[in-house]
Amino acid sequence: MNAPTMQGLDIQAPSYVKNARLIAWVAEMAALCKPARIHWCDGSQQEYDQLCEQLVQAGTFKRLNPAKRPNSYLAWSDPSDVARVEDRTFICSKNKDDAGPTNNWMEPSEMRATLRPLFDGCMRGRTMYVVPFSMGPLGSPIAHIGVELSDSAYVAVNMKIMTRMGRAVYDVLGTEGEFVPCMHTVGAPLAAGQTDQTSWPCNPTTKYIVHYPETREIWSYGSGYGGNALLGKKCLALRIASTMGRDQGWLAEHMLILGVQNPQGQKYHVAAAFPSACGKTNFSMLVPPPAFDGWKVTTIGDDIAWIKPQADGSLRAINPEAGYFGVAPGTNLKTNPNCMLSLQRDVIFTNVALTDDGDVWWEGMEADTGALPAHLIDWQGRDWTPEIAKETGAKAAHPNARFTVAATHNPALDPAWDDPAGVKIDALIFGGRRSSTVPLVTEARDWAEGVYMAATMGSETTAAAFGQQGVVRRDPFAMLPFMGYHMSDYFQHWLDLGAKLQAQGATLPRIFTTNWFRKGEDGKFVWPGYGENMRVLKWMIDRIEGQAPGRETPFGIAPQYAEINWSGLDFTPAQFDSVTGIDRAAWDGELQSHTAHFDKLGERLPETLRQTQQRLQQRLAEHA
Ligand code: OXD
Ligand code: MN
Repeated sequence: MNAPTMQGLDIQAPSYVKNARLIAWVAEMAALCKPARIHWCDGSQQEYDQLCEQLVQAGTFKRLNPAKRPNSYLAWSDPSDVARVEDRTFICSKNKDDAGPTNNWMEPSEMRATLRPLFDGCMRGRTMYVVPFSMGPLGSPIAHIGVELSDSAYVAVNMKIMTRMGRAVYDVLGTEGEFVPCMHTVGAPLAAGQTDQTSWPCNPTTKYIVHYPETREIWSYGSGYGGNALLGKKCLALRIASTMGRDQGWLAEHMLILGVQNPQGQKYHVAAAFPSACGKTNFSMLVPPPAFDGWKVTTIGDDIAWIKPQADGSLRAINPEAGYFGVAPGTNLKTNPNCMLSLQRDVIFTNVALTDDGDVWWEGMEADTGALPAHLIDWQGRDWTPEIAKETGAKAAHPNARFTVAATHNPALDPAWDDPAGVKIDALIFGGRRSSTVPLVTEARDWAEGVYMAATMGSETTAAAFGQQGVVRRDPFAMLPFMGYHMSDYFQHWLDLGAKLQAQGATLPRIFTTNWFRKGEDGKFVWPGYGENMRVLKWMIDRIEGQAPGRETPFGIAPQYAEINWSGLDFTPAQFDSVTGIDRAAWDGELQSHTAHFDKLGERLPETLRQTQQRLQQRLAEHA
């Protein structure tokens, strides 16, 4: 029998692909995008190596010196394609109100009419990769399957690291299984006879990152950058999954998950939400200070948590991902030793600098070597020296430069990281980057107050998204860029879930808020952060175990100085006061800005949050 073809294009699926809906969808999308060929990814190591070699030939990848960094590659993106594009990200629900005021919206049929001509012929001259992946352990009842069609081999190899990708997914999918269709193109078709001129194809002027929550589809056009192009991550595991969670009674969150075990062997699990580039990866791989002999922190996930209520009222969480797509700058043996150990081999680096001996470098690595390198090639392919950096301020690595590495390379990986049943969550943390006002740590007095803290979280913006950096924006639950529906409905979903579990008699996880980033009058961070955050983590465990009474503040229960284990750290009561103090005037302003934030969220805002705010206002008024 001849293979089915479409205008000379072989569209025959491999014999192990048996899902009729998938086969028909690939044929339909191939007819639209008109690629030169179709490659059905099997997820094998051989395929990964071949695609990487192909990327080396195309100039997209540089193979790093195998003696220094075995089986590792460096990609430099187009300078215009270095971060998520929030202003080009759309939630196309049928009703505008369902997307809410924090999302860009377009009516679905209008968006389809906009995208169709852009996708028509968008893969000309390129290969369409069919990338099957599972978010979550293969076959787990908590996992969901996606299939990404992309004309980027960079995407295919990154997806192999970041997800459970390959042939086994088809077995789980079977003939009838459901999958989330994820369309991606770099938006740079080749003219007849033209070979690629550029090592990082993308569309410099037109980008769309589009979600249809009701039909659970994703269409991404014009960018090759991680968060815009690796569609399992932000698009599926957060934006689409948050709407699944709303409909099915669970939570898809921008949270790391860690295990923390005390010297007696008692283990707790904590999920923590921090905005992008605020240290989730570092916190999830934390190495306790020497004084915490016998304490162990292990990583379940560094970016996303799917949290599902169980019949016994507990909340269990899985990490839907299988790798880390983390920010490289600032990472070193002091800030995150486990991460540095994870990056020794089998890594894809994007937008870091190249050393003269074929290795990688980024700002922050000088802390390990004691000196800046004399010469580098920066992420834009230009010479870099310490003198040039001093004169021009040029960064060797882009501030949002990334590494992609398999979770299994992490020496602190939790043995249960791949457990289909997930881990039971004992505490939730919400933390922003605030140079003033918000204290180091407080615990919410109840679930509603915790939801209030999370809903009003503010953070100074970072390089993970395009736009001005360092301005405070409200980033509720660290989900602002990742919400698939109306933010107020999401708050209500959290409140409802808590109420339902409480009605079942369940003990809910404790909710804490943290801020590692308060600065002193000299403009420097006061709290040492990184591994020292263990001291705060231990106080949380003490709270859970009823061993730390804390003290009441307008904004929750805070630690008393003596409740923190200071062994091995010189941190005075005055310093402690400067990171925990609640300034009345600053908080008046803060609460006013919460009101402005709530007003923007409109009529659907849960009344409980306004009531909680009134109680906080009252407490603040009583605060000396
Ligand atoms: C990420 C982000 O890439 O949050 O994880 O931007
Ligand atoms: Mn993230």
